[in-house]
Amino acid sequence: MEATGRTALWVCSVLFVLTEVSSKLINIPSLVHHGIEGKSLLLSVETHFPLDEVEIQGTWSHTKLSGTRTTLVTFTKDVSIPNMVYSDNLVFRKPNVSLLIQKLNQDDEGDYHLSLNIKFHNKTGLVIKEERTVHVTVDVPVSSPVIAKSPSYAVIEDKANVTWTCSVKRGTRVAFQWLRDNVPLAPSERYHFTHDNSTLLISPVRKEDKGTYRCAVSNPVSQSRDSRSVELNVYYGPYNLEVNSGQGLRTGEVFTINPGELVFFDCQADSNPPNSYVWISKNRNATQIITEGPRLEVRSYRLAQAEEYLCRAFNNVTQKQDEAQFTLVVASLGTGKEKHTQDGGSLSQLAAIAVSSFFIFGCMLLFFLRKTCHPKRVLMSIYNRPFAEQKRPHRSGHEDATEDFGIYEFVSIPGKMESTQVSSRSLSRLESIQDMHTTIYDVIRHVPETPSHSLLK
Ligand SMILES: *[C@@H]1O[C@H](CO)[C@@H](O)[C@H](O)[C@H]1NC(C)=O
Ligand SMILES: *[C@@H]1O[C@H](CO)[C@@H](O)[C@H](O)[C@H]1NC(C)=O
Ligand SMILES: *[C@@H]1O[C@H](CO)[C@@H](O)[C@H](O)[C@H]1NC(C)=O
Ligand SMILES: *[C@@H]1O[C@H](CO)[C@@H](O)[C@H](O)[C@H]1NC(C)=O
Repeated sequence: MEATGRTALWVCSVLFVLTEVSSKLINIPSLVHHGIEGKSLLLSVETHFPLDEVEIQGTWSHTKLSGTRTTLVTFTKDVSIPNMVYSDNLVFRKPNVSLLIQKLNQDDEGDYHLSLNIKFHNKTGLVIKEERTVHVTVDVPVSSPVIAKSPSYAVIEDKANVTWTCSVKRGTRVAFQWLRDNVPLAPSERYHFTHDNSTLLISPVRKEDKGTYRCAVSNPVSQSRDSRSVELNVYYGPYNLEVNSGQGLRTGEVFTINPGELVFFDCQADSNPPNSYVWISKNRNATQIITEGPRLEVRSYRLAQAEEYLCRAFNNVTQKQDEAQFTLVVASLGTGKEKHTQDGGSLSQLAAIAVSSFFIFGCMLLFFLRKTCHPKRVLMSIYNRPFAEQKRPHRSGHEDATEDFGIYEFVSIPGKMESTQVSSRSLSRLESIQDMHTTIYDVIRHVPETPSHSLLK
Protein backbone atom coordinates (compact mmCIF):
# COMPACT_ATOMS: atom_id res chain seq x y z
CA MET A 1 0.00 0.00 0.00
CA GLU A 2 2.72 2.33 1.03
CA ALA A 3 4.69 1.43 -2.07
CA THR A 4 1.84 2.24 -4.48
CA GLY A 5 1.24 5.53 -2.69
CA ARG A 6 4.87 6.45 -3.06
CA THR A 7 4.83 5.45 -6.73
CA ALA A 8 1.80 7.62 -7.39
CA LEU A 9 3.50 10.56 -5.73
CA TRP A 10 6.65 9.98 -7.79
CA VAL A 11 4.65 9.77 -11.04
CA CYS A 12 2.84 12.96 -10.19
CA SER A 13 6.01 14.86 -9.47
CA VAL A 14 7.65 13.61 -12.67
CA LEU A 15 4.58 14.63 -14.68
CA PHE A 16 4.67 17.99 -13.00
CA VAL A 17 8.36 18.43 -13.82
CA LEU A 18 7.73 17.28 -17.41
CA THR A 19 4.84 19.65 -18.05
CA GLU A 20 6.79 22.39 -16.36
CA VAL A 21 9.77 21.69 -18.61
CA SER A 22 7.81 21.10 -21.84
CA SER A 23 5.80 24.30 -21.59
CA LYS A 24 9.08 26.12 -21.64
CA LEU A 25 10.83 24.12 -24.36
CA ILE A 26 8.99 25.46 -27.40
CA ASN A 27 6.53 28.26 -27.96
CA ILE A 28 4.47 29.17 -30.99
CA PRO A 29 3.43 32.83 -30.69
CA SER A 30 0.37 32.53 -32.92
CA LEU A 31 -1.69 29.40 -33.43
CA VAL A 32 -3.96 31.02 -36.06
CA HIS A 33 -2.76 32.79 -39.19
CA HIS A 34 -4.72 34.71 -41.81
CA GLY A 35 -2.43 34.50 -44.81
CA ILE A 36 -2.81 36.42 -48.02
CA GLU A 37 -2.74 34.63 -51.30
CA GLY A 38 0.59 35.13 -53.09
CA LYS A 39 2.34 36.30 -49.93
CA SER A 40 4.67 34.35 -47.66
CA LEU A 41 3.78 33.05 -44.22
CA LEU A 42 6.16 32.14 -41.41
CA LEU A 43 4.99 29.57 -38.91
CA SER A 44 7.33 30.77 -36.23
CA VAL A 45 8.53 28.48 -33.43
CA GLU A 46 10.60 29.68 -30.48
CA THR A 47 12.83 27.03 -28.89
CA HIS A 48 13.92 27.24 -25.27
CA PHE A 49 16.56 24.57 -24.98
CA PRO A 50 20.32 24.60 -25.58
CA LEU A 51 20.80 22.95 -28.96
CA ASP A 52 24.21 21.54 -28.08
CA GLU A 53 22.81 19.63 -25.11
CA VAL A 54 20.00 17.85 -26.97
CA GLU A 55 19.21 15.65 -29.90
CA ILE A 56 16.01 16.59 -31.78
CA GLN A 57 13.85 14.77 -34.24
CA GLY A 58 10.65 16.14 -35.69
CA THR A 59 8.18 16.57 -38.54
CA TRP A 60 5.93 19.26 -39.96
CA SER A 61 2.81 17.92 -41.57
CA HIS A 62 -0.16 19.55 -43.27
CA THR A 63 -3.83 18.54 -43.04
CA LYS A 64 -5.88 20.18 -45.79
CA LEU A 65 -9.46 21.29 -45.25
CA SER A 66 -10.45 18.21 -47.23
CA GLY A 67 -8.76 16.08 -44.59
CA THR A 68 -5.78 14.70 -46.55
CA ARG A 69 -2.59 14.75 -44.57
CA THR A 70 0.95 15.03 -45.97
CA THR A 71 4.31 15.23 -44.28
CA LEU A 72 6.14 18.36 -45.38
CA VAL A 73 9.51 17.86 -43.80
CA THR A 74 11.27 15.47 -41.45
CA PHE A 75 14.30 16.77 -39.62
CA THR A 76 16.99 16.28 -37.01
CA LYS A 77 19.55 18.75 -35.73
CA ASP A 78 21.79 17.93 -38.66
CA VAL A 79 19.56 16.66 -41.48
CA SER A 80 16.24 17.72 -43.04
CA ILE A 81 14.29 15.73 -45.59
CA PRO A 82 11.67 17.88 -47.31
CA ASN A 83 8.70 16.48 -49.22
CA MET A 84 9.75 16.80 -52.84
CA VAL A 85 6.29 17.91 -53.96
CA TYR A 86 6.35 20.93 -51.68
CA SER A 87 10.01 21.63 -51.34
CA ASP A 88 9.95 24.55 -53.82
CA ASN A 89 7.49 26.47 -51.76
CA LEU A 90 8.83 25.66 -48.28
CA VAL A 91 11.88 26.95 -46.50
CA PHE A 92 13.17 24.96 -43.55
CA ARG A 93 16.62 25.69 -42.20
CA LYS A 94 17.69 23.18 -39.63
CA PRO A 95 18.11 23.39 -36.73
CA ASN A 96 15.67 26.34 -36.79
CA VAL A 97 12.28 24.67 -36.30
CA SER A 98 10.19 27.49 -37.89
CA LEU A 99 8.58 26.80 -41.25
CA LEU A 100 8.28 29.41 -43.97
CA ILE A 101 5.72 29.08 -46.76
CA GLN A 102 7.03 31.24 -49.58
CA LYS A 103 3.97 31.85 -51.71
CA LEU A 104 0.59 31.04 -50.26
CA ASN A 105 -2.21 29.71 -52.37
CA GLN A 106 -5.65 28.53 -51.31
CA ASP A 107 -4.48 24.92 -51.25
CA ASP A 108 -2.20 25.82 -48.36
CA GLU A 109 -5.14 26.34 -46.03
CA GLY A 110 -5.57 23.92 -43.17
CA ASP A 111 -3.77 22.73 -40.06
CA TYR A 112 0.01 22.61 -39.77
CA HIS A 113 1.18 20.08 -37.24
CA LEU A 114 4.59 20.13 -35.57
CA SER A 115 5.76 17.02 -33.77
CA LEU A 116 9.12 17.27 -31.97
CA ASN A 117 11.09 14.83 -29.84
CA ILE A 118 13.81 16.34 -27.66
CA LYS A 119 16.40 14.05 -26.06
CA PHE A 120 18.63 15.50 -23.35
CA HIS A 121 22.19 14.17 -23.24
CA ASN A 122 22.71 14.66 -19.52
CA LYS A 123 19.33 13.56 -18.18
CA THR A 124 19.70 9.82 -18.45
CA GLY A 125 18.26 9.75 -21.95
CA LEU A 126 14.96 11.49 -21.12
CA VAL A 127 12.90 12.12 -24.29
CA ILE A 128 10.26 14.81 -24.27
CA LYS A 129 7.68 14.92 -27.04
CA GLU A 130 6.20 18.26 -28.11
CA GLU A 131 3.20 18.68 -30.44
CA ARG A 132 1.58 21.86 -31.75
CA THR A 133 -1.03 22.64 -34.36
CA VAL A 134 -1.24 25.95 -36.24
CA HIS A 135 -4.38 26.85 -38.20
CA VAL A 136 -3.86 28.74 -41.46
CA THR A 137 -6.41 30.43 -43.66
CA VAL A 138 -5.51 31.93 -47.01
CA ASP A 139 -7.59 34.89 -48.14
CA VAL A 140 -7.78 36.62 -51.45
CA PRO A 141 -8.06 40.41 -51.18
CA VAL A 142 -11.38 41.73 -52.50
CA SER A 143 -11.59 43.55 -55.79
CA SER A 144 -13.82 46.60 -56.30
CA PRO A 145 -17.48 45.70 -55.85
CA VAL A 146 -19.92 46.12 -58.71
CA ILE A 147 -23.48 47.19 -57.91
CA ALA A 148 -26.54 46.37 -60.02
CA LYS A 149 -30.22 47.20 -59.74
CA SER A 150 -33.24 45.38 -61.10
CA PRO A 151 -35.33 46.78 -62.62
CA SER A 152 -33.00 49.46 -63.89
CA TYR A 153 -35.76 52.03 -64.46
CA ALA A 154 -37.69 54.11 -61.93
CA VAL A 155 -40.44 52.24 -60.09
CA ILE A 156 -43.84 53.09 -58.67
CA GLU A 157 -44.40 52.99 -54.95
CA ASP A 158 -46.19 49.90 -53.62
CA LYS A 159 -46.35 48.38 -57.09
CA ALA A 160 -42.80 47.14 -57.60
CA ASN A 161 -39.93 45.29 -55.96
CA VAL A 162 -36.32 46.25 -56.42
CA THR A 163 -33.38 43.85 -56.23
CA TRP A 164 -29.90 45.14 -55.59
CA THR A 165 -26.90 42.90 -56.15
CA CYS A 166 -23.30 43.47 -55.21
CA SER A 167 -20.58 41.34 -56.71
CA VAL A 168 -16.79 41.07 -56.56
CA LYS A 169 -14.55 39.40 -59.13
CA ARG A 170 -12.02 38.33 -56.54
CA GLY A 171 -12.09 37.94 -52.83
CA THR A 172 -12.67 35.31 -50.18
CA ARG A 173 -14.85 35.48 -47.10
CA VAL A 174 -16.30 38.75 -48.38
CA ALA A 175 -18.56 40.71 -46.06
CA PHE A 176 -21.13 42.85 -47.87
CA GLN A 177 -22.82 45.93 -46.52
CA TRP A 178 -25.53 48.10 -48.04
CA LEU A 179 -25.93 51.83 -47.58
CA ARG A 180 -28.59 54.31 -48.66
CA ASP A 181 -27.51 57.93 -48.51
CA ASN A 182 -24.53 56.75 -46.44
CA VAL A 183 -26.71 55.08 -43.81
CA PRO A 184 -26.19 51.32 -43.35
CA LEU A 185 -29.29 49.23 -44.06
CA ALA A 186 -30.48 46.38 -41.87
CA PRO A 187 -33.04 43.63 -42.50
CA SER A 188 -36.64 44.70 -41.94
CA GLU A 189 -40.14 43.85 -43.04
CA ARG A 190 -39.45 45.09 -46.55
CA TYR A 191 -35.67 44.64 -46.69
CA HIS A 192 -34.56 41.09 -47.37
CA PHE A 193 -30.92 40.09 -47.59
CA THR A 194 -29.40 36.86 -48.85
CA HIS A 195 -27.35 34.91 -46.32
CA ASP A 196 -24.09 36.52 -47.42
CA ASN A 197 -25.72 39.98 -47.73
CA SER A 198 -24.66 40.23 -51.37
CA THR A 199 -28.28 40.76 -52.50
CA LEU A 200 -30.87 43.13 -51.12
CA LEU A 201 -34.52 42.78 -52.09
CA ILE A 202 -36.86 45.68 -51.33
CA SER A 203 -40.43 44.43 -51.45
CA PRO A 204 -42.48 46.46 -52.01
CA VAL A 205 -40.75 49.72 -52.76
CA ARG A 206 -41.88 52.84 -50.87
CA LYS A 207 -41.31 56.54 -51.06
CA GLU A 208 -38.71 56.44 -48.30
CA ASP A 209 -36.57 53.99 -50.30
CA LYS A 210 -35.75 56.74 -52.77
CA GLY A 211 -32.09 57.64 -52.54
CA THR A 212 -28.53 56.82 -53.46
CA TYR A 213 -27.38 53.26 -52.88
CA ARG A 214 -23.98 51.67 -52.70
CA CYS A 215 -22.44 48.53 -51.33
CA ALA A 216 -19.22 48.11 -49.41
CA VAL A 217 -17.11 44.93 -49.24
CA SER A 218 -14.34 43.80 -46.96
CA ASN A 219 -12.64 40.63 -45.73
CA PRO A 220 -10.04 39.74 -43.09
CA VAL A 221 -7.20 40.75 -45.38
CA SER A 222 -8.54 43.87 -47.09
CA GLN A 223 -9.86 47.26 -46.17
CA SER A 224 -13.46 48.11 -46.99
CA ARG A 225 -14.04 49.00 -50.64
CA ASP A 226 -17.07 50.89 -51.96
CA SER A 227 -19.02 50.40 -55.13
CA ARG A 228 -20.14 53.39 -57.15
CA SER A 229 -23.41 55.00 -56.05
CA VAL A 230 -26.63 54.26 -57.88
CA GLU A 231 -29.82 56.26 -57.62
CA LEU A 232 -33.17 54.64 -56.92
CA ASN A 233 -36.06 56.74 -58.15
CA VAL A 234 -39.50 55.96 -56.73
CA TYR A 235 -42.70 57.53 -58.06
CA TYR A 236 -45.14 58.36 -55.30
CA GLY A 237 -47.84 60.70 -54.11
CA PRO A 238 -49.51 63.06 -54.00
CA TYR A 239 -49.15 63.35 -50.23
CA ASN A 240 -49.88 66.15 -47.74
CA LEU A 241 -51.84 68.34 -50.08
CA GLU A 242 -52.42 71.82 -48.76
CA VAL A 243 -53.55 75.23 -49.90
CA ASN A 244 -51.83 78.35 -48.66
CA SER A 245 -52.06 82.04 -49.23
CA GLY A 246 -49.85 84.89 -48.19
CA GLN A 247 -52.81 87.22 -48.08
CA GLY A 248 -56.13 87.32 -46.29
CA LEU A 249 -57.02 85.95 -42.92
CA ARG A 250 -57.07 82.22 -42.50
CA THR A 251 -59.23 80.33 -40.03
CA GLY A 252 -59.00 76.63 -40.59
CA GLU A 253 -60.22 76.03 -44.13
CA VAL A 254 -61.77 79.48 -44.43
CA PHE A 255 -59.91 82.38 -45.99
CA THR A 256 -61.28 85.85 -45.48
CA ILE A 257 -60.14 88.45 -47.99
CA ASN A 258 -60.76 92.12 -48.58
CA PRO A 259 -63.25 93.02 -51.30
CA GLY A 260 -61.54 93.74 -54.58
CA GLU A 261 -58.18 92.52 -53.35
CA LEU A 262 -56.14 90.28 -55.67
CA VAL A 263 -55.30 87.15 -53.74
CA PHE A 264 -53.06 84.22 -54.70
CA PHE A 265 -53.58 80.69 -53.50
CA ASP A 266 -50.86 78.08 -53.79
CA CYS A 267 -51.54 74.40 -53.86
CA GLN A 268 -48.76 72.09 -52.77
CA ALA A 269 -48.36 68.36 -52.43
CA ASP A 270 -45.45 65.99 -52.04
CA SER A 271 -45.27 63.98 -55.21
CA ASN A 272 -42.83 62.39 -57.63
CA PRO A 273 -43.03 63.29 -60.46
CA PRO A 274 -44.54 66.72 -59.69
CA ASN A 275 -48.33 66.83 -59.70
CA SER A 276 -50.54 68.50 -62.16
CA TYR A 277 -52.99 70.83 -60.40
CA VAL A 278 -56.53 71.81 -61.23
CA TRP A 279 -58.60 74.48 -59.47
CA ILE A 280 -62.31 73.96 -59.23
CA SER A 281 -65.01 76.30 -58.02
CA LYS A 282 -68.09 74.77 -56.45
CA ASN A 283 -71.29 76.73 -56.72
CA ARG A 284 -74.20 74.97 -55.11
CA ASN A 285 -74.39 71.84 -57.24
CA ALA A 286 -72.29 72.89 -60.17
CA THR A 287 -68.52 72.41 -60.22
CA GLN A 288 -66.40 74.22 -62.72
CA ILE A 289 -62.70 74.04 -63.56
CA ILE A 290 -61.31 77.56 -63.24
CA THR A 291 -57.64 77.10 -63.96
CA GLU A 292 -54.71 74.68 -64.01
CA GLY A 293 -51.32 74.90 -62.35
CA PRO A 294 -50.21 75.31 -58.76
CA ARG A 295 -51.46 78.91 -58.36
CA LEU A 296 -54.94 80.42 -58.29
CA GLU A 297 -55.61 84.13 -58.57
CA VAL A 298 -58.85 85.45 -57.10
CA ARG A 299 -60.35 88.92 -56.98
CA SER A 300 -63.82 89.10 -55.54
CA TYR A 301 -66.22 91.87 -54.66
CA ARG A 302 -69.13 89.73 -53.57
CA LEU A 303 -69.33 90.68 -49.93
CA ALA A 304 -70.51 88.26 -47.27
CA GLN A 305 -70.86 85.36 -49.65
CA ALA A 306 -68.98 82.15 -49.07
CA GLU A 307 -67.43 80.61 -52.16
CA GLU A 308 -66.17 77.06 -52.20
CA TYR A 309 -62.95 76.19 -54.00
CA LEU A 310 -61.12 72.97 -54.54
CA CYS A 311 -57.54 72.20 -55.49
CA ARG A 312 -57.05 68.81 -57.07
CA ALA A 313 -53.55 67.38 -57.45
CA PHE A 314 -52.94 64.49 -59.80
CA ASN A 315 -49.85 62.37 -60.28
CA ASN A 316 -50.05 61.04 -63.81
CA VAL A 317 -47.54 58.23 -63.12
CA THR A 318 -48.94 56.79 -59.90
CA GLN A 319 -52.44 57.63 -61.17
CA LYS A 320 -53.35 58.89 -57.73
CA GLN A 321 -54.97 62.17 -56.81
CA ASP A 322 -55.85 64.21 -53.78
CA GLU A 323 -58.11 67.20 -53.14
CA ALA A 324 -58.19 70.09 -50.70
CA GLN A 325 -61.29 72.21 -50.29
CA PHE A 326 -61.50 75.66 -48.81
CA THR A 327 -63.98 78.49 -48.42
CA LEU A 328 -63.46 82.05 -49.48
CA VAL A 329 -65.27 84.83 -47.64
CA VAL A 330 -65.11 88.44 -48.75
CA ALA A 331 -65.21 90.86 -45.86
CA SER A 332 -63.56 94.12 -44.99
CA LEU A 333 -60.46 93.33 -43.02
CA GLY A 334 -59.31 96.95 -42.86
CA THR A 335 -56.25 98.36 -44.52
CA GLY A 336 -53.61 96.88 -42.31
CA LYS A 337 -54.38 93.36 -43.30
CA GLU A 338 -50.86 92.12 -42.69
CA LYS A 339 -51.10 93.46 -39.18
CA HIS A 340 -54.46 91.82 -38.90
CA THR A 341 -53.20 88.38 -39.71
CA GLN A 342 -50.28 88.78 -37.40
CA ASP A 343 -52.29 90.14 -34.52
CA GLY A 344 -55.14 87.75 -35.16
CA GLY A 345 -53.99 85.38 -32.46
CA SER A 346 -53.55 87.93 -29.70
CA LEU A 347 -56.78 89.72 -30.67
CA SER A 348 -58.83 86.57 -30.36
CA GLN A 349 -57.14 85.83 -27.06
CA LEU A 350 -58.08 89.28 -25.75
CA ALA A 351 -61.65 88.77 -26.91
CA ALA A 352 -61.81 85.40 -25.18
CA ILE A 353 -60.55 86.89 -21.92
CA ALA A 354 -63.09 89.72 -22.09
CA VAL A 355 -65.99 87.36 -22.82
CA SER A 356 -65.09 84.98 -20.02
CA SER A 357 -64.68 87.88 -17.57
CA PHE A 358 -68.15 89.14 -18.46
CA PHE A 359 -69.55 85.67 -18.06
CA ILE A 360 -68.01 85.19 -14.62
CA PHE A 361 -69.20 88.63 -13.51
CA GLY A 362 -72.70 87.87 -14.77
CA CYS A 363 -72.80 84.60 -12.87
CA MET A 364 -71.68 86.27 -9.68
CA LEU A 365 -74.33 88.98 -10.06
CA LEU A 366 -77.04 86.38 -10.65
CA PHE A 367 -75.99 84.42 -7.60
CA PHE A 368 -75.99 87.54 -5.45
CA LEU A 369 -79.49 88.56 -6.60
CA ARG A 370 -80.79 85.09 -5.93
CA LYS A 371 -79.44 85.11 -2.41
CA THR A 372 -80.99 88.46 -1.43
CA CYS A 373 -84.31 88.50 -3.28
CA HIS A 374 -85.47 84.85 -3.04
CA PRO A 375 -87.24 85.03 -6.32
CA LYS A 376 -89.97 82.52 -6.81
CA ARG A 377 -90.07 81.62 -3.20
CA VAL A 378 -93.79 81.35 -3.44
CA LEU A 379 -94.90 79.00 -6.08
CA MET A 380 -98.40 78.37 -5.02
CA SER A 381 -100.14 76.91 -7.95
CA ILE A 382 -102.98 79.25 -8.20
CA TYR A 383 -102.37 79.96 -11.84
CA ASN A 384 -105.03 77.61 -12.95
CA ARG A 385 -107.75 79.55 -11.28
CA PRO A 386 -107.75 83.22 -12.22
CA PHE A 387 -111.09 82.78 -14.10
CA ALA A 388 -112.80 81.32 -11.08
CA GLU A 389 -111.67 84.24 -9.03
CA GLN A 390 -113.05 86.81 -11.43
CA LYS A 391 -116.41 85.11 -11.37
CA ARG A 392 -116.47 85.40 -7.61
CA PRO A 393 -115.93 89.05 -6.86
CA HIS A 394 -117.01 88.79 -3.28
CA ARG A 395 -115.95 86.16 -0.82
CA SER A 396 -115.98 85.76 2.88
CA GLY A 397 -115.07 82.98 5.27
CA HIS A 398 -114.11 79.57 4.17
CA GLU A 399 -117.30 78.51 2.52
CA ASP A 400 -115.33 78.01 -0.68
CA ALA A 401 -112.23 76.48 0.86
CA THR A 402 -112.36 73.55 -1.51
CA GLU A 403 -110.97 75.85 -4.10
CA ASP A 404 -107.93 76.41 -1.99
CA PHE A 405 -106.83 72.88 -2.51
CA GLY A 406 -104.16 72.41 -5.04
CA ILE A 407 -100.47 71.93 -5.45
CA TYR A 408 -98.67 73.99 -2.93
CA GLU A 409 -94.99 74.28 -2.63
CA PHE A 410 -93.35 73.75 0.70
CA VAL A 411 -92.50 77.36 1.49
CA SER A 412 -92.42 80.01 4.14
CA ILE A 413 -93.25 83.59 3.38
CA PRO A 414 -90.99 85.87 5.29
CA GLY A 415 -91.62 89.28 3.93
CA LYS A 416 -93.33 91.96 2.06
CA MET A 417 -92.33 91.55 -1.55
CA GLU A 418 -94.60 88.76 -2.70
CA SER A 419 -96.89 88.76 0.30
CA THR A 420 -99.19 91.36 -1.22
CA GLN A 421 -99.99 89.20 -4.19
CA VAL A 422 -100.48 86.15 -2.10
CA SER A 423 -102.57 87.79 0.58
CA SER A 424 -105.06 89.14 -1.93
CA ARG A 425 -106.29 85.64 -2.42
CA SER A 426 -105.56 83.01 0.05
CA LEU A 427 -104.07 84.83 2.95
CA SER A 428 -107.12 87.01 3.50
CA ARG A 429 -108.99 83.89 4.34
CA LEU A 430 -106.37 82.61 6.71
CA GLU A 431 -106.74 83.65 10.31
CA SER A 432 -103.86 85.98 10.84
CA ILE A 433 -100.82 87.49 9.27
CA GLN A 434 -98.64 85.08 11.20
CA ASP A 435 -99.95 82.40 8.91
CA MET A 436 -97.84 83.85 6.23
CA HIS A 437 -95.10 81.76 7.75
CA THR A 438 -97.08 78.61 7.51
CA THR A 439 -96.64 75.84 5.09
CA ILE A 440 -98.82 73.70 2.94
CA TYR A 441 -99.86 71.75 6.02
CA ASP A 442 -101.28 74.89 7.63
CA VAL A 443 -103.47 75.56 4.67
CA ILE A 444 -105.08 72.17 4.92
CA ARG A 445 -105.50 72.39 8.68
CA HIS A 446 -107.49 75.59 8.46
CA VAL A 447 -109.99 74.18 6.02
CA PRO A 448 -112.28 71.95 8.17
CA GLU A 449 -115.12 74.57 8.31
CA THR A 450 -116.43 73.11 5.10
CA PRO A 451 -117.94 69.68 5.50
CA SER A 452 -115.71 67.00 4.20
CA HIS A 453 -118.44 65.51 1.97
CA SER A 454 -118.47 68.67 -0.11
CA LEU A 455 -115.03 67.62 -1.21
CA LEU A 456 -116.42 64.37 -2.42
CA LYS A 457 -119.06 65.99 -4.58
C1 LIG B 1 14.33 31.00 -37.56
O1 LIG B 1 14.08 31.48 -38.88
C2 LIG B 1 13.22 32.64 -38.96
C3 LIG B 1 13.06 33.02 -40.40
O2 LIG B 1 13.31 31.99 -41.23
C4 LIG B 1 13.83 33.78 -38.16
O3 LIG B 1 12.93 34.87 -38.20
C5 LIG B 1 14.08 33.33 -36.75
O4 LIG B 1 14.72 34.35 -36.05
C6 LIG B 1 14.96 32.08 -36.73
N1 LIG B 1 15.12 31.64 -35.36
C7 LIG B 1 16.34 31.42 -34.82
C8 LIG B 1 16.37 30.95 -33.44
O5 LIG B 1 17.33 31.60 -35.48
C1 LIG C 1 -42.86 41.56 -55.10
O1 LIG C 1 -42.53 40.54 -54.20
C2 LIG C 1 -43.63 39.91 -53.60
C3 LIG C 1 -43.09 38.90 -52.64
O2 LIG C 1 -42.16 39.45 -51.81
C4 LIG C 1 -44.50 39.26 -54.65
O3 LIG C 1 -45.64 38.72 -54.04
C5 LIG C 1 -44.92 40.31 -55.65
O4 LIG C 1 -45.64 39.71 -56.69
C6 LIG C 1 -43.72 41.03 -56.22
N1 LIG C 1 -44.16 42.11 -57.06
C7 LIG C 1 -43.66 42.32 -58.25
C8 LIG C 1 -44.23 43.48 -58.99
O5 LIG C 1 -42.79 41.62 -58.72
C1 LIG D 1 -78.94 70.47 -56.57
O1 LIG D 1 -79.11 69.11 -56.84
C2 LIG D 1 -80.26 68.58 -56.26
C3 LIG D 1 -80.35 67.11 -56.57
O2 LIG D 1 -79.07 66.57 -56.73
C4 LIG D 1 -81.49 69.29 -56.80
O3 LIG D 1 -82.66 68.81 -56.17
C5 LIG D 1 -81.37 70.79 -56.56
O4 LIG D 1 -82.41 71.46 -57.16
C6 LIG D 1 -80.05 71.30 -57.12
N1 LIG D 1 -79.89 72.69 -56.78
C7 LIG D 1 -79.45 73.60 -57.61
C8 LIG D 1 -79.35 74.98 -57.09
O5 LIG D 1 -79.13 73.31 -58.74
C1 LIG E 1 -47.37 63.75 -66.80
O1 LIG E 1 -47.51 65.13 -66.66
C2 LIG E 1 -46.39 65.87 -67.06
C3 LIG E 1 -46.71 67.30 -66.80
O2 LIG E 1 -47.16 67.47 -65.51
C4 LIG E 1 -46.12 65.62 -68.54
O3 LIG E 1 -44.97 66.33 -68.92
C5 LIG E 1 -45.91 64.15 -68.77
O4 LIG E 1 -45.78 63.89 -70.12
C6 LIG E 1 -47.09 63.39 -68.25
N1 LIG E 1 -46.82 61.98 -68.33
C7 LIG E 1 -47.75 61.11 -68.71
C8 LIG E 1 -47.31 59.67 -68.73
O5 LIG E 1 -48.87 61.43 -68.99
